[in-house]
Amino acid sequence: MDQDNSDWWRHGIFYQVYPRSFQDSDGDGVGDIRGIIERLPYLVELGVDAVWLSPIFPSPMADFGYDISDYTGIDPLFGTTEDFDELIAAAHDAGLKLILDLVPNHTSDQHPWFVEARSSRENAQRDWYIWRDPAPDGGPPNNWLSEFGGSAWTYDEASGQYYYHAFLAQQPDLNWRNPEVRAAIHDVMRFWLRKGVDGFRVDVIWHLIKDAEFRDNPPNPHYLEGRPPHETLLTQYSTDQPEVHAVITEMRRVTEEFDDRVLIGEVYLPLHRLIAYYGNDLRGAQMPFNFALLSTMWSARSVEKIIADYEKALPPGAWPNWVLGNHDRPRVASRVGTAQASVAAMLLLTLRGTPTLYYGDEIGMRQVPIAPNQVRDPFEKNVPDIGVGRDGCRTPMQWSAEPYAGFSTVKPWLPLARDFASDNVASLAAVPASILNLYKALIALRRMMPQLAYGNYEPVMAHGDVLLYRRRSMDGVAVIALNFGAESTAITSSAIGFSNEILLSTFMDREGEKVEGMLDLRANEGVILGPPLRPA
Ligand code: NOJ
Ligand code: MG
Repeated sequence: MDQDNSDWWRHGIFYQVYPRSFQDSDGDGVGDIRGIIERLPYLVELGVDAVWLSPIFPSPMADFGYDISDYTGIDPLFGTTEDFDELIAAAHDAGLKLILDLVPNHTSDQHPWFVEARSSRENAQRDWYIWRDPAPDGGPPNNWLSEFGGSAWTYDEASGQYYYHAFLAQQPDLNWRNPEVRAAIHDVMRFWLRKGVDGFRVDVIWHLIKDAEFRDNPPNPHYLEGRPPHETLLTQYSTDQPEVHAVITEMRRVTEEFDDRVLIGEVYLPLHRLIAYYGNDLRGAQMPFNFALLSTMWSARSVEKIIADYEKALPPGAWPNWVLGNHDRPRVASRVGTAQASVAAMLLLTLRGTPTLYYGDEIGMRQVPIAPNQVRDPFEKNVPDIGVGRDGCRTPMQWSAEPYAGFSTVKPWLPLARDFASDNVASLAAVPASILNLYKALIALRRMMPQLAYGNYEPVMAHGDVLLYRRRSMDGVAVIALNFGAESTAITSSAIGFSNEILLSTFMDREGEKVEGMLDLRANEGVILGPPLRPA
C-alpha cells in the first residue's frame, strides 16, 4: 500500500486514549503520560496507526482537562514536558502518530487571558472573551443555554457584565471574531506541531463563531421530555455560523506550514450541516468526525441508510470517517449489547473511511454503573438523574486480573468494572475468539486488503437483519455480511454475486470455509468474504 505519506490519515486507524483512565504510572489513581508510554507496545500489537489523546494540559479539571489554563504546558497530574517529549519520540519510534486535543472554543476561567479580561472593562484583553451588558431587566443578555445546565451567561459583579460560556461557567468562550485570539491559538498549534505532533482533534469546532447580533435561539419543536434542558432550544444562533468556515480554513493553513498533519473536527450536527466542515474546496477539516453510529437505532436497515446517506452527501474528494465510541457517549457494547459489539467492530473496520476506536472498546468494555457518591462528571452533577453522565464510559482500562486491573496500584479515580477480573486485556488475549483478538484480526485484514482501506463502498440488497456490502478496488473485492439479529439466517450466493471463501467470521472459527450456494450466518455473526489471501 505505497501511497505517499501525506495520505497516512486516510488508511490509518485512530485510537482515542482518555489519559486519566489509560494507565497510572505513579500510583495516584489517575492515568498519566508515563503510563501511556508503558502501554505503547500494546497499541502497536493491536495494530493501530495513530493515537489521539484527550487534553493533558494544565487545568483546574472542572471539566477534566477541557478547561485549559495553559495551552502549552502539561498538567503535573499527567507528568512533565519532558515526559511528553519522551512520549512523542517513543510513539514515533514505534511507528505511531500522535494527535492532540485542541480546545480553542473556551479556556479555563483560571487562564491568565481570562483573568486579565475579567479584571476590567478597559483591559486590553477584555475582547478576547464574549462580554455583554445585562438585558434591561438585569438578566442575561439573551436566552442561550449552557450545555451543562442553566444559562450560558454568568454575571461578573465587579465589571457589571455577563460573559458567555457554552459549557461550564469555569469555561468562558473565547471571542473568535478577535484576530488576536486567532493568532494566539495559531501559535499554540505551531508550538505543538513544531514538537512533531501529527495533528489535532479540535473540540466543538462548530461552536467557534456565534451570531454577531446575539439573537435569541428559537425553541426546539422536537424537544423530547427527559432530555437535557439545553435541548429545549435550537442552537441556530449560538453555533454553526457561516463565518466559522473561514476560521477553520485558517487553522488548516497553520497545519499546512508543516508536512503531513491532519485536522479533525468534533462536530455534532445533522449530515447536511456536517459535510460543510470539509470546507469550500475541501479547505476545512480533513476529517469532520462522523458520529452517526453513536446515536443510531442498531438495525441493519438503519445502519444501511446511514452509510448510504453519508456516502451520497460527501463532497467530491472528501474522505469519510467513522466513530463507534468516545468519552462523551455510552460505550458501544452497552448501546448495542455484548453479542452485537463484535458485529459493530467488523462494521467499523470494513467501512470506507478512517475508523476511530475508543480505548477499551476493543475488549468490549461496558458502561460501568456509577453510584451517586462516585459521580465526577460536571454534566451529571448539574443535570442529574436523566442519564447524561459520562463517567460510566471513562472508567479505567482493564489490563489484567491484578488488583485495580493493572491500571494502578491504588484505588482509581473512577470505579472499575465489576467484571474486570475476567474481562481484561491479559485474559482476553489468551482466548482465541475473544473480541480483542477479533479486533486484532480485523485490523490486520484491513492492512492486508487494500480494498478494505481504499475500495469503493457498494451496497448489496439484503433483507431483515442482514447488512450486506462490497468493498472493491483494483486490488479486488471483499464482501461483508453482518447479521444484526439474534437469530440465524441465510443469504443466497446470488446476492453475494460470486463464490468465495470466508476470510474472517466474528466468531473466528470459519476462516477458509468455501461459500457456494448459500451463506449461513449464525445469530450475531458477521463475516468477510473474499478471494483466498496469499500469504505475504
Ligand atoms: C467536547 C468534549 O468532548 C467534552 O468532553 C467536553 O466536555 C466539551 N467539549 C467541552 O469542552
Ligand atoms: Mg498517575
